Amino acid sequence: MLPVPSPSVTQPPPAEAVTPLIRGLDVLRRLTDADGTLALAELARTSGLARSTVDRICATLAHLGYVRLDGRDASLAPPLMAVANAYLDALRLPALLGPLADRLADELDESVSLAVPDGPDIRFVHQVLRRRALSISFRVGDRLPGGGSAPGLVFRDGLPLAVDDQLVEPGLIAVAVPVRGPGGDVVCAVSVVSHTSRHGVDSLRGAVQSALGACVASMERVLGDQPQATGLRPGPRSSIAGGADFAGAAESAKAGNGSAPVVSLGRGLSVLSVFDGVRPAMALSEIASRAGLARATARRALITYQYLGYVERDERAYRLTPRVLGLGCAPLSRTTLPRIAAPHLAALSERLGESVGLSVADGDRVRCTARVAPRRVMSVDIGVGSRLPAAVTAAGRVLLGEESAGVAAVDGPEDGLRSVAVPVRDRDGRVVSALDVTAHLGRGDTDAWTDALRAAAAAIVADLHVTSRFVPVPVL
Ligand code: PHB
Repeated sequence: MLPVPSPSVTQPPPAEAVTPLIRGLDVLRRLTDADGTLALAELARTSGLARSTVDRICATLAHLGYVRLDGRDASLAPPLMAVANAYLDALRLPALLGPLADRLADELDESVSLAVPDGPDIRFVHQVLRRRALSISFRVGDRLPGGGSAPGLVFRDGLPLAVDDQLVEPGLIAVAVPVRGPGGDVVCAVSVVSHTSRHGVDSLRGAVQSALGACVASMERVLGDQPQATGLRPGPRSSIAGGADFAGAAESAKAGNGSAPVVSLGRGLSVLSVFDGVRPAMALSEIASRAGLARATARRALITYQYLGYVERDERAYRLTPRVLGLGCAPLSRTTLPRIAAPHLAALSERLGESVGLSVADGDRVRCTARVAPRRVMSVDIGVGSRLPAAVTAAGRVLLGEESAGVAAVDGPEDGLRSVAVPVRDRDGRVVSALDVTAHLGRGDTDAWTDALRAAAAAIVADLHVTSRFVPVPVL
């Protein structure tokens, strides 16, 4: 069954397209292309939208939690990762093949990636990075030109093996091979990536060919064993124009039923997150019911997404395309726990008027990974990177797992400090960090601090969990 090609975005939008949704997606795409942050004025200038329109769209996106507004800037926020996660879950390849890619990277001690076609380009859906002094690294969600990358040549020319001899970047070399689904279609390409300081293309090919071949055979066996491989299909063959100016097209779209942007943008975006690994493709009625939308509302959102190439339809089922990863994934996955926590620490410090921080276990010590202190004459001076004995600090007690109640309070007469800490847990429930408030002895109310710490830790954990579903997030 051939997919119905998505119309090119250089065409005017269909009459039923939802203009606020087109504009909201355009803002998210521009923020993604700018690596996560843009001034509102710059968004208005480059999109051609009125500043008041940009402000309204960004306020709506902030209300949804997808964007953070900070003075004159708008930044992508972790909850937007739910959109990329919906696609990656529906695709199923990261969950099924990721562990085999990880093993190949260990075996070869080189970076390994999985990529799928995205129109004429390719998108990475899994990355295992090896840290090197000389390295550029792409992330899940990053897009490369099809003709200028090893996986792109695999898809475009149907090659059994393609090499990238510094096509993308001087010094970067890669070997890619196709992985076929049970029907014989190429579903993704697996690449081994190295550097000219370690290999030439011929020596790289020689060094990796047999392990790569064995890895692909295992991957194809895993795919063949899938009872219902509905998420596995060849990448879209439709030609979707890249980098088109959606906003200009939006100007000519009908305003439709005139509902406020805040409502129609939020409703439209809710459609993306209803897809998952269990339901990678759905009919309109199912999408509407899962999103809690009227059928007509869901239909117009889907028409808008199809027009922009984020959704494709075959027969009666709609599914997400890799282009969805262009909505925040790469910049949001290029992060660490301290960066995710930063806005929450700032809000907590402001709320309590005290110094708050994050730390990790480091042998018998705790190492501070982030700190926000209020400006005042006498304040606690614990710098990022400083190490304190774990046994005598609240953060240390939490990290040592000694506090069954999930909170540690320590009054230290010798250092004159009072500190309360709570754990931050990863998706597996492991304590990966401690969040603390620390002040001079005699200040603060432990119960009030505990409540505020718990609320802030819950917000950090929510952001960490949505971000780390398909990409590793370093704790420091
Ligand atoms: C990568 O995974 O970073 C990669 C893969 C293939 C290329 C270039 C980069 O051709």
